[in-house]
Amino acid sequence: MSTTAKLILQDQTYDIPVVEGSEGEKGLDISRLRAQTGYITLDPSYGNTGSCLSGITYIDGDAGILRYRGIDIGELCEHSTFMEVSYLLIYGHLPTEAEYARFKERVHHHSLIHEDMKSFFTSYPGHAHPMAILSAMVCSLSVYHPQLLEPEQTQSQRDQAITRLLSKVRVLAAFAYKRSVGEAFVYTRPELDYLSNFMHMMFTTPMREYVPDETIRKALDVLFILHADHEQNCSTSTVRMVGSSKANLFASLSAGICALWGPLHGGANQAVIEMLQTIHADGGGNYKKYIEKAKDKSDPFLLMGFGHRVYKNYDPRAAIIKKYCDKVLEHLGIHDPILEIAKGLEEAALTDPYFIERKLYPNVDFYSGIIYRALKIPTNMFTVMFALGRLPGWIAHWKEMVEDPGMKIARPRQIYTGERSNNYVPIGIRP
Ligand code: ACO
Repeated sequence: MSTTAKLILQDQTYDIPVVEGSEGEKGLDISRLRAQTGYITLDPSYGNTGSCLSGITYIDGDAGILRYRGIDIGELCEHSTFMEVSYLLIYGHLPTEAEYARFKERVHHHSLIHEDMKSFFTSYPGHAHPMAILSAMVCSLSVYHPQLLEPEQTQSQRDQAITRLLSKVRVLAAFAYKRSVGEAFVYTRPELDYLSNFMHMMFTTPMREYVPDETIRKALDVLFILHADHEQNCSTSTVRMVGSSKANLFASLSAGICALWGPLHGGANQAVIEMLQTIHADGGGNYKKYIEKAKDKSDPFLLMGFGHRVYKNYDPRAAIIKKYCDKVLEHLGIHDPILEIAKGLEEAALTDPYFIERKLYPNVDFYSGIIYRALKIPTNMFTVMFALGRLPGWIAHWKEMVEDPGMKIARPRQIYTGERSNNYVPIGIRP
């Protein structure tokens, strides 16, 4: 196959190099286009734009494939753990036993935050959204680690920032929750794993010790593995964009958390449950009404948890999580009418021509909220859970980018459509 494409502009022909990825994906390398032709490309929302070369995650949205570092997501969910997957994403290979032990030990070692930070939480009103607190706290954490903020870092400094953030963000998230319910902060315990410790910090009180059992731990572990990375999505691209100015990892992750908050991205898991609750309050069984609303272009209502920019087939993560959702509800003996509504809505949408023609399938967020609800995690913490899961992916992308010797600040261009050159008219004589 030819390694160049021909571009004809005003009778001039230009050679555009073709780049090919390891899975046969092809792209046109237009990095010299403006210099050669004076033209730029226009692709609002970047649906056809590759912003980088990356070796972390592969998605084939048409075939419903998701792999981290070449390993299929189903295999990882079955055999691995969130901690091991974090290592895989960040460092590029499965750890040896010694590497894994050292990594877990380092992450555990950094699970305290500066005691002064506790007072920050109490300054927020009780109703503050935990995503607001989380993004602010991740940025605030940087002030306690001035040695890790240098734009030029050694590998060791980068590793220190990575392990501190991996460990402390879950502490900040649990403390944000404790603040919202007015309970005392709880610290990690050395014998518990990463996620059990998070649940322990969330739900242990002076009256009751909480450690999740194996079914719950495994379901959460799988959910977090499924969320761990998804290549150049909105929040990961934000982390890369901010990091490309050589902003430190704390600032870059804080920005990623803000990007995730939106209801079209990570905020969808909260929006799904709110939508299902609305349908429940409206009698429960009237799926058709909501399907019709979603199809009506004059109605802003969308079927939350449906559709995806890259999956034009069943989201492979949704298929896995649906199974664990059933397991958790059965294990806890919960009959959740919201789940029945979710199943009914899914069935109605999947047989409706509007959804079939547009290839709109349930995404991972359609079922994740039902598991969180069963675990008594409040709705406004759902997106925080997503952020914790996505953390290793954000870190892996930041690391890949800053370690690339060819890294440049990201700076898209635009096609200007405003007023042409104009004169200033003093206010007294303006018409
Ligand atoms: N309900 C109803 N119609 C929809 C939905 C939906 N959830 N999603 C897309 N459509 C329609 C669009 O209106 C459009 O219709 P048209 O061709 O008649 O104009 C068509 O399907 C194509 O949709 P786009 O908006 O072009 O798809 P895009 O790739 O831009 O958006 C997105 C993807 C943002 C996820 C969208 O499907 C959506 O808003 N879904 C609901 C929110 C959601 O669940 N977000 C979570 C995404 S997963 C994640 O972030 C982890």
